[in-house]
Amino acid sequence: MSLFQVEGLVKRFGGLVATDHVSLSVERGEIHALIGPNGAGKTTLVNQISGLLQPDAGRVLLDGVDITPLPMHRRVAHGLTRCFQVTRIFPAQTVRDNLLLAVQAHSGSSFRFLQPRSQASDLYVKAEQLAERVGLQHSLAETAGALPHGAQRMLDVALALAAAPKLLLLDEPMAGMGPGESQQMVHLIEALRKDMAVLLIEHDMEAVFRLADRISVLVYGRVLTAGTPDEIRNHPEVQAVYLGTETLETTA
Ligand SMILES: Nc1ncnc2c1ncn2[C@@H]1O[C@H](COP(=O)(O)OP(=O)(O)O)[C@@H](O)[C@H]1O
Ligand SMILES: [Mg+2]
Repeated sequence: MSLFQVEGLVKRFGGLVATDHVSLSVERGEIHALIGPNGAGKTTLVNQISGLLQPDAGRVLLDGVDITPLPMHRRVAHGLTRCFQVTRIFPAQTVRDNLLLAVQAHSGSSFRFLQPRSQASDLYVKAEQLAERVGLQHSLAETAGALPHGAQRMLDVALALAAAPKLLLLDEPMAGMGPGESQQMVHLIEALRKDMAVLLIEHDMEAVFRLADRISVLVYGRVLTAGTPDEIRNHPEVQAVYLGTETLETTA
Protein backbone atom coordinates (compact mmCIF):
# COMPACT_ATOMS: atom_id res chain seq x y z
CA MET A 1 0.00 0.00 0.00
CA SER A 2 1.27 3.44 -0.91
CA LEU A 3 1.95 5.91 1.88
CA PHE A 4 -0.25 8.48 0.18
CA GLN A 5 -2.99 8.24 -2.41
CA VAL A 6 -5.22 10.71 -4.20
CA GLU A 7 -8.18 8.98 -5.83
CA GLY A 8 -10.38 10.57 -8.49
CA LEU A 9 -10.21 14.06 -7.03
CA VAL A 10 -12.54 16.62 -8.64
CA LYS A 11 -12.74 20.36 -7.92
CA ARG A 12 -14.90 22.74 -9.91
CA PHE A 13 -14.94 26.53 -9.84
CA GLY A 14 -18.22 27.40 -11.57
CA GLY A 15 -17.89 25.92 -15.05
CA LEU A 16 -14.15 25.34 -14.76
CA VAL A 17 -12.94 21.88 -13.75
CA ALA A 18 -9.68 22.82 -11.99
CA THR A 19 -9.05 19.26 -10.77
CA ASP A 20 -10.43 16.68 -13.18
CA HIS A 21 -10.43 13.18 -11.63
CA VAL A 22 -6.83 13.35 -10.46
CA SER A 23 -5.27 10.21 -9.04
CA LEU A 24 -1.69 9.86 -7.88
CA SER A 25 0.30 8.03 -5.25
CA VAL A 26 3.43 8.71 -3.23
CA GLU A 27 5.48 5.82 -1.86
CA ARG A 28 7.38 5.77 1.42
CA GLY A 29 10.72 7.57 1.08
CA GLU A 30 9.79 8.91 -2.34
CA ILE A 31 10.26 12.43 -3.63
CA HIS A 32 7.35 12.87 -6.00
CA ALA A 33 7.24 16.02 -8.10
CA LEU A 34 4.11 17.58 -9.53
CA ILE A 35 4.75 19.77 -12.56
CA GLY A 36 2.57 21.49 -15.12
CA PRO A 37 2.16 24.85 -16.83
CA ASN A 38 0.55 27.84 -15.11
CA GLY A 39 -3.14 27.29 -14.51
CA ALA A 40 -2.80 23.47 -14.69
CA GLY A 41 -4.35 23.13 -11.24
CA LYS A 42 -1.29 22.39 -9.09
CA THR A 43 -2.15 24.80 -6.27
CA THR A 44 -5.80 23.76 -6.31
CA LEU A 45 -4.72 20.13 -5.95
CA VAL A 46 -2.30 20.94 -3.13
CA ASN A 47 -4.99 22.93 -1.35
CA GLN A 48 -7.27 19.90 -1.41
CA ILE A 49 -4.49 17.62 -0.22
CA SER A 50 -3.63 19.90 2.70
CA GLY A 51 -7.28 20.47 3.61
CA LEU A 52 -7.58 24.14 2.67
CA LEU A 53 -10.18 23.24 0.01
CA GLN A 54 -12.78 20.46 0.04
CA PRO A 55 -12.97 18.43 -3.20
CA ASP A 56 -16.31 17.95 -4.98
CA ALA A 57 -15.51 14.26 -5.42
CA GLY A 58 -12.74 11.78 -4.70
CA ARG A 59 -10.62 10.80 -1.71
CA VAL A 60 -7.28 11.55 -0.10
CA LEU A 61 -5.69 8.66 1.82
CA LEU A 62 -2.69 8.82 4.12
CA ASP A 63 -1.31 5.53 5.41
CA GLY A 64 -4.62 3.88 4.57
CA VAL A 65 -6.68 6.47 6.47
CA ASP A 66 -9.27 8.48 4.55
CA ILE A 67 -8.34 12.04 5.54
CA THR A 68 -10.66 13.75 3.01
CA PRO A 69 -13.11 15.07 5.61
CA LEU A 70 -10.43 16.19 8.07
CA PRO A 71 -9.51 19.85 8.64
CA MET A 72 -5.92 20.90 8.11
CA HIS A 73 -4.70 20.53 11.70
CA ARG A 74 -6.09 16.99 11.96
CA ARG A 75 -4.22 16.09 8.77
CA VAL A 76 -1.04 17.38 10.39
CA ALA A 77 -1.71 15.08 13.34
CA HIS A 78 -2.01 12.18 10.87
CA GLY A 79 1.40 13.03 9.38
CA LEU A 80 0.72 15.38 6.48
CA THR A 81 2.34 18.80 6.77
CA ARG A 82 2.57 21.61 4.28
CA CYS A 83 5.08 24.39 3.91
CA PHE A 84 3.48 27.79 3.62
CA GLN A 85 6.01 29.95 1.86
CA VAL A 86 6.98 31.83 5.02
CA THR A 87 3.44 32.89 6.00
CA ARG A 88 3.51 30.96 9.26
CA ILE A 89 6.71 32.60 10.48
CA PHE A 90 6.35 35.12 13.30
CA PRO A 91 8.55 37.88 11.83
CA ALA A 92 9.11 39.83 15.06
CA GLN A 93 10.25 36.72 16.98
CA THR A 94 13.72 35.21 16.86
CA VAL A 95 14.46 32.08 14.87
CA ARG A 96 14.79 30.22 18.20
CA ASP A 97 11.39 31.38 19.45
CA ASN A 98 9.73 30.49 16.16
CA LEU A 99 11.17 27.01 16.41
CA LEU A 100 10.31 26.69 20.11
CA LEU A 101 6.69 27.57 19.39
CA ALA A 102 6.52 24.95 16.65
CA VAL A 103 8.22 22.27 18.74
CA GLN A 104 5.97 23.09 21.67
CA ALA A 105 2.84 22.97 19.52
CA HIS A 106 3.68 19.38 18.58
CA SER A 107 4.91 18.26 21.99
CA GLY A 108 1.40 17.63 23.29
CA SER A 109 1.38 20.48 25.81
CA SER A 110 0.71 24.11 25.13
CA PHE A 111 2.14 25.98 28.13
CA ARG A 112 5.87 25.83 28.48
CA PHE A 113 5.85 27.69 31.80
CA LEU A 114 3.78 24.88 33.33
CA GLN A 115 6.33 22.28 32.42
CA PRO A 116 9.18 21.06 34.55
CA ARG A 117 12.49 22.69 33.70
CA SER A 118 13.91 19.49 32.20
CA GLN A 119 11.09 19.27 29.67
CA ALA A 120 11.51 22.91 28.74
CA SER A 121 15.20 22.38 28.01
CA ASP A 122 14.21 19.36 25.94
CA LEU A 123 12.20 21.75 23.75
CA TYR A 124 15.27 23.98 23.38
CA VAL A 125 17.36 21.01 22.26
CA LYS A 126 14.73 20.04 19.70
CA ALA A 127 14.51 23.60 18.42
CA GLU A 128 18.28 23.74 17.99
CA GLN A 129 18.33 20.37 16.22
CA LEU A 130 15.75 21.66 13.74
CA ALA A 131 17.81 24.81 13.15
CA GLU A 132 20.86 22.68 12.47
CA ARG A 133 18.92 20.48 10.08
CA VAL A 134 18.12 23.44 7.84
CA GLY A 135 21.46 25.22 8.32
CA LEU A 136 20.17 27.98 10.61
CA GLN A 137 22.12 26.99 13.73
CA HIS A 138 24.09 30.26 13.61
CA SER A 139 20.95 32.38 13.20
CA LEU A 140 19.02 31.26 16.29
CA ALA A 141 19.16 34.70 17.94
CA GLU A 142 18.25 36.62 14.80
CA THR A 143 14.84 38.16 14.20
CA ALA A 144 13.05 35.88 11.74
CA GLY A 145 11.62 38.74 9.66
CA ALA A 146 15.12 40.18 9.13
CA LEU A 147 16.51 36.96 7.61
CA PRO A 148 17.22 36.85 3.87
CA HIS A 149 14.38 35.34 1.80
CA GLY A 150 16.10 31.98 1.36
CA ALA A 151 16.76 31.63 5.08
CA GLN A 152 13.10 32.42 5.82
CA ARG A 153 12.14 29.60 3.49
CA MET A 154 14.50 27.28 5.34
CA LEU A 155 12.94 28.33 8.62
CA ASP A 156 9.50 27.59 7.19
CA VAL A 157 10.65 24.07 6.32
CA ALA A 158 12.07 23.65 9.84
CA LEU A 159 8.71 24.70 11.30
CA ALA A 160 7.03 22.03 9.16
CA LEU A 161 9.58 19.43 10.27
CA ALA A 162 8.65 20.11 13.91
CA ALA A 163 5.46 18.13 13.19
CA ALA A 164 7.58 15.08 12.18
CA PRO A 165 5.49 14.52 9.06
CA LYS A 166 5.26 11.27 7.09
CA LEU A 167 4.54 13.33 3.98
CA LEU A 168 5.80 16.88 3.48
CA LEU A 169 4.03 19.05 0.91
CA LEU A 170 6.25 21.71 -0.66
CA ASP A 171 4.58 24.25 -2.96
CA GLU A 172 7.29 26.02 -4.94
CA PRO A 173 9.99 26.06 -2.26
CA MET A 174 12.53 27.61 -4.66
CA ALA A 175 10.30 30.49 -5.77
CA GLY A 176 12.14 33.80 -5.51
CA MET A 177 15.40 32.17 -4.50
CA GLY A 178 18.83 32.91 -5.91
CA PRO A 179 20.96 30.08 -7.34
CA GLY A 180 22.90 29.58 -4.10
CA GLU A 181 19.75 29.46 -2.00
CA SER A 182 18.14 27.03 -4.44
CA GLN A 183 21.15 24.73 -4.12
CA GLN A 184 20.77 24.75 -0.33
CA MET A 185 17.09 23.91 -0.64
CA VAL A 186 17.86 21.05 -3.04
CA HIS A 187 20.36 19.61 -0.56
CA LEU A 188 17.89 19.97 2.28
CA ILE A 189 15.07 18.21 0.38
CA GLU A 190 17.47 15.45 -0.67
CA ALA A 191 18.37 14.91 2.98
CA LEU A 192 14.70 14.68 4.03
CA ARG A 193 14.14 11.57 1.93
CA LYS A 194 15.45 9.22 4.62
CA ASP A 195 12.82 10.39 7.10
CA MET A 196 9.74 11.22 5.05
CA ALA A 197 8.12 11.27 1.65
CA VAL A 198 7.92 14.58 -0.18
CA LEU A 199 5.36 15.89 -2.67
CA LEU A 200 7.14 18.72 -4.45
CA ILE A 201 5.47 21.32 -6.65
CA GLU A 202 8.19 23.31 -8.33
CA HIS A 203 8.85 25.38 -11.45
CA ASP A 204 12.63 24.99 -11.23
CA MET A 205 12.99 22.05 -13.62
CA GLU A 206 16.64 21.52 -12.80
CA ALA A 207 15.71 20.97 -9.16
CA VAL A 208 12.73 18.76 -10.09
CA PHE A 209 14.74 16.48 -12.35
CA ARG A 210 17.55 16.25 -9.85
CA LEU A 211 15.37 15.46 -6.85
CA ALA A 212 12.34 13.51 -8.04
CA ASP A 213 12.03 9.74 -8.02
CA ARG A 214 8.82 10.11 -9.99
CA ILE A 215 7.10 13.04 -11.66
CA SER A 216 3.40 13.58 -12.35
CA VAL A 217 2.52 16.05 -15.08
CA LEU A 218 -0.68 18.01 -14.65
CA VAL A 219 -2.28 19.73 -17.65
CA TYR A 220 -5.73 21.37 -17.63
CA GLY A 221 -6.56 19.72 -14.32
CA ARG A 222 -5.67 16.20 -15.47
CA VAL A 223 -2.66 13.96 -14.97
CA LEU A 224 -1.18 13.74 -18.46
CA THR A 225 1.34 11.15 -17.37
CA ALA A 226 3.48 10.02 -14.44
CA GLY A 227 6.89 8.41 -14.57
CA THR A 228 10.57 8.55 -13.77
CA PRO A 229 12.50 11.71 -14.71
CA ASP A 230 13.85 9.94 -17.81
CA GLU A 231 10.39 8.82 -18.90
CA ILE A 232 9.02 12.32 -18.43
CA ARG A 233 11.93 14.00 -20.19
CA ASN A 234 11.43 11.79 -23.25
CA HIS A 235 7.64 11.91 -23.30
CA PRO A 236 6.51 13.60 -26.55
CA GLU A 237 3.30 15.09 -25.12
CA VAL A 238 5.17 16.50 -22.14
CA GLN A 239 7.73 18.03 -24.44
CA ALA A 240 4.91 19.56 -26.48
CA VAL A 241 3.31 21.06 -23.37
CA TYR A 242 6.57 22.68 -22.35
CA LEU A 243 7.77 23.63 -25.83
CA GLY A 244 8.54 27.31 -25.98
CA THR A 245 7.90 27.91 -22.30
CA GLU A 246 10.36 25.92 -20.26
CA THR A 247 12.94 23.40 -21.31
CA LEU A 248 13.21 19.90 -19.92
CA GLU A 249 16.80 19.60 -21.18
CA THR A 250 18.26 20.32 -17.80
CA THR A 251 20.61 17.44 -17.16
CA ALA A 252 22.56 17.41 -20.41
N1 LIG B 1 -10.66 30.16 -6.04
C1 LIG B 1 -10.77 30.06 -7.38
N2 LIG B 1 -11.87 30.46 -8.01
C2 LIG B 1 -12.00 30.35 -9.35
N3 LIG B 1 -11.06 29.82 -10.15
C3 LIG B 1 -9.93 29.41 -9.58
C4 LIG B 1 -9.70 29.50 -8.17
N4 LIG B 1 -8.47 28.99 -7.88
C5 LIG B 1 -7.95 28.62 -9.05
N5 LIG B 1 -8.82 28.86 -10.08
C6 LIG B 1 -8.58 28.53 -11.49
O1 LIG B 1 -8.28 27.14 -11.54
C7 LIG B 1 -7.26 26.87 -12.50
C8 LIG B 1 -6.07 26.22 -11.82
O2 LIG B 1 -5.41 27.18 -11.01
P1 LIG B 1 -4.20 26.80 -10.05
O3 LIG B 1 -4.57 25.64 -9.22
O4 LIG B 1 -3.78 28.04 -9.35
O5 LIG B 1 -3.08 26.36 -11.11
P2 LIG B 1 -1.48 26.30 -10.96
O6 LIG B 1 -1.15 26.31 -9.51
O7 LIG B 1 -1.10 25.02 -11.66
O8 LIG B 1 -0.94 27.50 -11.69
C9 LIG B 1 -6.93 28.23 -13.15
O9 LIG B 1 -7.67 28.32 -14.35
C10 LIG B 1 -7.39 29.22 -12.11
O10 LIG B 1 -7.75 30.43 -12.72
MG1 LIG C 1 0.21 27.48 -8.40
